[in-house]
Amino acid sequence: TFVVTDNCIRCKYTDCVEVCPVDCFHEGPNFLVIDPEECIDCTLCEPECPAQAIFSEDDLPPEFIPFVEINAELAKQWPVIAEQKEALADATEWDGVKDKLQYLER
Ligand code: SF4
Ligand code: F3S
Repeated sequence: TFVVTDNCIRCKYTDCVEVCPVDCFHEGPNFLVIDPEECIDCTLCEPECPAQAIFSEDDLPPEFIPFVEINAELAKQWPVIAEQKEALADATEWDGVKDKLQYLER
């Protein structure tokens, strides 16, 4: 499965959702997650993210391992998003800031 990680938080560009053939992205206030039970590993979303926040679980950097569980948990709670929308207003300022998990809104 593919996993959305730290750098999506407070950016939420949403380019990723347009290409997903199975609509497995779910949207929260300032982050998106992938439903691991729906993702078919097509790989299309990974290069679409301007913030490079999407990784295959198989080559997930170790610091992002907590995001496996976060994606699985929040995908059950948040609604599906399948159409691109405006990024968050200050996305460019937050793009690349480290350790944004503390800002995750649920
Ligand atoms: Fe969707 Fe494919 Fe990305 Fe999985 S890898 S979330 S199926 S676009
Ligand atoms: Fe997030 Fe990147 Fe998608 S910032 S909303 S994973 S395009």
